[in-house]
Amino acid sequence: MASRHGAEVLVASNRGPVSYEVRPDGADGSLHAKRGGGGLVSGLSAIGSDASAVWVCAALGDGDREAVRRAAGGLLPEEDTGGQRVRMLDIDAAVFADAYNGIANSVLWFVHHMLYQTPLEPVFDAGFRRQWASYRAYNEAFARALAEEAAPGAAVLIQDYHLALAPRMLRELRPDLRIGHFSHTPWAPPDYFRLLPDDIAAELLEGILGADRAAFLTRRWADAFTDCCRAVLDSGVPSGTRIGVHGLGADADFLRERAHREDVGERMAALRAEIGEGRRAIVRVDRTELSKNIVRGLLAYRELLEDHPEWRERVVHVAFAYPSRQDLAVYRDYTAEVQRVADEINSTFGTPGWTPVVLHVKDDFARSLAAYRLADVALVNPIRDGMNLVAKEVPVVSDEGCALVLSREAGAYEELGESAIVVNPYDIGGTARALHEALTLPPAERADRSKQLAAAATALPPTRWFLDQLTALDD
Ligand code: G6P
Repeated sequence: MASRHGAEVLVASNRGPVSYEVRPDGADGSLHAKRGGGGLVSGLSAIGSDASAVWVCAALGDGDREAVRRAAGGLLPEEDTGGQRVRMLDIDAAVFADAYNGIANSVLWFVHHMLYQTPLEPVFDAGFRRQWASYRAYNEAFARALAEEAAPGAAVLIQDYHLALAPRMLRELRPDLRIGHFSHTPWAPPDYFRLLPDDIAAELLEGILGADRAAFLTRRWADAFTDCCRAVLDSGVPSGTRIGVHGLGADADFLRERAHREDVGERMAALRAEIGEGRRAIVRVDRTELSKNIVRGLLAYRELLEDHPEWRERVVHVAFAYPSRQDLAVYRDYTAEVQRVADEINSTFGTPGWTPVVLHVKDDFARSLAAYRLADVALVNPIRDGMNLVAKEVPVVSDEGCALVLSREAGAYEELGESAIVVNPYDIGGTARALHEALTLPPAERADRSKQLAAAATALPPTRWFLDQLTALDD
């Protein structure tokens, strides 16, 4: 097969390094390119503007689809991508919605984060089977595009639960390629994974096992994957597929430089005014995502104010909860619940000069960095999390050094657990006690721990995470 762009290194992920908005003011529907954030984009950006590398992603919305239609030769304009060669696939909108909202975010995300709660969930009926057909078609679109772009023997790094079937599909189209799959989420233990219909569970595992290497953020998730293979497939992990672990750390140079720009300084002043001079700040920054456990964090803070009235007027919980996946009702409901509990705490405890919870929902990276710099305590209490980069970023950026209250169910726990105050994320009372402990750490101990956290958090910079995977594929 002739390679369209002769790529030697390819990355494939649902979300690419840019997305597009149609400018409301643009008479001609002009497009505005916005750089993506998050661990996946920051790690994969190490691909840089290498002319022999191509990043394949999916169009997520109308602006993106319009950009794909205008893209010459299949690649997005380089001025939008910072020189990266990016091919965005225009997958049929209904297929995309089924694959992304239906299977990836309502089924696979829920399985790996063990989020099902109601007696009626999950539902594996005819509707689910239709969505599964779309998930297959979505994976096939990626496999075909990768097969078209890859030079002979190229290395292909396929990312995450959206693309679990693509490695095997690509292997069938192009047996010459070296294929890696990387999971950015936790992996469910077999008892939970086997909620999935048996044939679907097997198809997912075999899809990933089509890669030469299947890699994870921590040993725990890698072991869970191996356990699932043993439980579901007669053969377990075949000898042709290796299992790898690559932790992803914070990008210290980028963060420290970015956090000292003027826009962050302005936001710090505004945030300090909202918090009040001399008050302590318990900071959290998340997508409003069920696995992040924001509501239990608020309830723990509430319990802290009840059990330790001495903290009233002296502490503020700064919670940035940026809306995510709002096409799904369960996410919209969760967003509303976060708002409701924050309001309830403010009306119960607030005084004319003190707002106990400062909640912001509009995504603003500069303001997040401002909160990191002001943080006395960082609260990271997910139910389960592949890694959690916020836990790593706050200690790197905080001006005075911060204490970290960290869930033992976050991947970051494996690297940061020794210097953090560790909690069971379901235990609201335990989290309240941990917040009290964090607020009362002697300053010297807090500074010490914060230094240790920052050192552990930056041990695996994103560039190394990326290059290590490429090297491992060569072995
Ligand atoms: C997690 C996933 C990523 C995903 C990100 C944001 O970090 O591992 O693959 O891109 O969440 O979710 P979204 O649905 O907005 O892309």
